[in-house]
Amino acid sequence: MKTNISNTAAALLLAALIAGCGSEQDAADDAASSSDRTEPVWDVEQDAEGAAQSAEEGAEAAGDAIEDAGDRAEDMSEDAADRAGEMADEAAEQARDMAEGASEAGDRADEAMAAAEGSRSMDDDATAGGDAGDPCVVDVEVGDSLAFSVDSIAVPSSCESVTINLAHTGSLPKEAMGHNWVLAPADALDAIGQAGMSAGADNDYVPDDDRIVAATEIIGGGERTSVTFSLDDLADGVDYAYVCTFPGHYSVMRGPFTVE
Ligand code: CO
Repeated sequence: MKTNISNTAAALLLAALIAGCGSEQDAADDAASSSDRTEPVWDVEQDAEGAAQSAEEGAEAAGDAIEDAGDRAEDMSEDAADRAGEMADEAAEQARDMAEGASEAGDRADEAMAAAEGSRSMDDDATAGGDAGDPCVVDVEVGDSLAFSVDSIAVPSSCESVTINLAHTGSLPKEAMGHNWVLAPADALDAIGQAGMSAGADNDYVPDDDRIVAATEIIGGGERTSVTFSLDDLADGVDYAYVCTFPGHYSVMRGPFTVE
């Protein structure tokens, strides 16, 4: 932009100089030819002076035009620079806003994950006892590992009956990672666990044994089941415990069951 205007200014200057030279030459020619004629000499001199003056004025005007063009070019490039600067600032601001937005979205995602994590760990921390509404109903979770969600279970002696809700929160099928909940005298768990393997999947690995107070079916990932029994079926002076009789689980999946 500036280069083009400078070129134009240079062309104007050149034109003015040529015009100036031409006028002076014309004036000189006029003077020369006039001397041959009969017109008074002072007129010729005056014409020559006038032509020279016109040429000077023309050159001066051309010079002014060049200066003006130069000033305009400077102004225009300053404006262009200002506008470019403003646009760069705006773009930078937009980029900052977008970065902030992305960062906020990331924070929200982190918070959501932390909240989800928190609710999971609260479930993991659940201990023995009935649920908030009914102390005689106990929720027990199992997953894709050899563990119950509770280390022990205690229920009030006032319960007419006790219900165990068993939920498998894992994803493995019951053939690979099945679990059940079986209540029996603590000293009978090993025998019942070993007999359970022989009982087979068709019997949910629960042997035909009179010492068993209650037993659920075997469930896999995503399934739930429950069993309800009366505390009258528990003998006085006997320690009870619960166990999972799925093959290989009975030695580690177990815990005491007490009536308080
Ligand atoms: Co099990």
